[in-house]
Amino acid sequence: MYALTREGEEYLKNGLPEVRLVKEVLSGRTSMKELQRLPYFTIGLMWAKKNGWVTVSGGEIRAEAGAKSVKSDIEAVLADVERGREVSAKLAEPLLSRKLVEERRESPIINDGEILQLTPDIIRSGAWERVPFKRYDVSLRMPEISYGRKHVLRMAIDRISRVLVEMGFKEMEGPIADAEFYVYDCLFTPQDHPARTAWDQFSLSKPKTIRKLPADVVRRVKAAHEHGGGTGSKGWGYSWDKDIAMRMMLRGHTTSVTARYLLEHNSPPNRYFSIDKIFRNDSLDKTHLLEFYQIEGWVMDGHLTVRDLMGTFGEFYRKLGIRDIKFKPTYNPYTEPSFEIYGRHPKLGRWLEIGNSGMFRDEMLRALGVKSDVMAWGLGLERTIMLLNNYDDIRNLHGTLCDLDFLREVPIVWEY
Ligand code: PHE
Repeated sequence: MYALTREGEEYLKNGLPEVRLVKEVLSGRTSMKELQRLPYFTIGLMWAKKNGWVTVSGGEIRAEAGAKSVKSDIEAVLADVERGREVSAKLAEPLLSRKLVEERRESPIINDGEILQLTPDIIRSGAWERVPFKRYDVSLRMPEISYGRKHVLRMAIDRISRVLVEMGFKEMEGPIADAEFYVYDCLFTPQDHPARTAWDQFSLSKPKTIRKLPADVVRRVKAAHEHGGGTGSKGWGYSWDKDIAMRMMLRGHTTSVTARYLLEHNSPPNRYFSIDKIFRNDSLDKTHLLEFYQIEGWVMDGHLTVRDLMGTFGEFYRKLGIRDIKFKPTYNPYTEPSFEIYGRHPKLGRWLEIGNSGMFRDEMLRALGVKSDVMAWGLGLERTIMLLNNYDDIRNLHGTLCDLDFLREVPIVWEY
């Protein structure tokens, strides 16, 4: 067997020097001076003369009769060698002496009394029974190949969705950019609430406002804010402004999607969840991103208590293998009572806030046309992943500062 040398490859691609030279001469360029500029001139002329294709006199190169159909066997042999065809020693000889091809040695199959490679012959001859196989050294370092794989966030989203589906939840979907009406007003959050200032939210300039809002819901939301809307509450006691409610923003929680769904699915029982992107004007640090994912969920039923809420969380986190959780009373304009949920980080040892939850207030539910109880929550996906995978810096996971080596090496904790 033979293999092309670098020179052989070059000639196969561009043609042999002697053939190229003759073509030049036949096309009318006969002056030595001019032809000498060709990079392959010297070798080309030597072989063209040897083959009797040209003669040289008085600074001119002349093609011999018959040179019109010059064809080189060598080119055909080069092509055969390249395709791995059998080539006789006699045909290969001139190419070997010009170093256009070289002999290729098969790598030995058996060496030093050990079989290096299993081939059909080794099986047919029965050598496999008599000769020992060389051992593989599985501890050798191999070059690392980074192949496509699921992102750690995607793995976690799949896993958590599966847990929630097992618990009877259906998935909901809603817009990333939405009117303040759905992000705040439907959630009984007054228009002068500190969270609604320009510093905390990302407002949209295009479009600046939503095209329209459902008139009946607007009327009920306005009533709830201004005087409680017949729920027995006094409301916030201010004059509610529809123009503010119409302004567009990037949602700061997926509870806006919950509000939209409550409007459409207001007869119990219902269980919905989403795991989607939200935006907050926070400062970036080990536990804060500005763009992150929230695990939103709600349960609607005739009568629900705080025990139902805690039991649901207990079950949810247990299914994920997280047992160390704590609840801390907190305040939300739209829930009463409200609880922050904390999980203990296995490495850092400290309690990390992983979510917020509560029972939706009547002022919110009645305005949305819901007569039953609803418990709801918003959990941080990335923080949950920190607990699940023992990570201590949220910025490695995604965003502009994410660590590619880290992402390549993330162990697969769960698959289905
Ligand atoms: N919207 C809250 C947050 O983003 C989470 C939440 C949802 C709390 C539903 C209570 C009820 O923190």
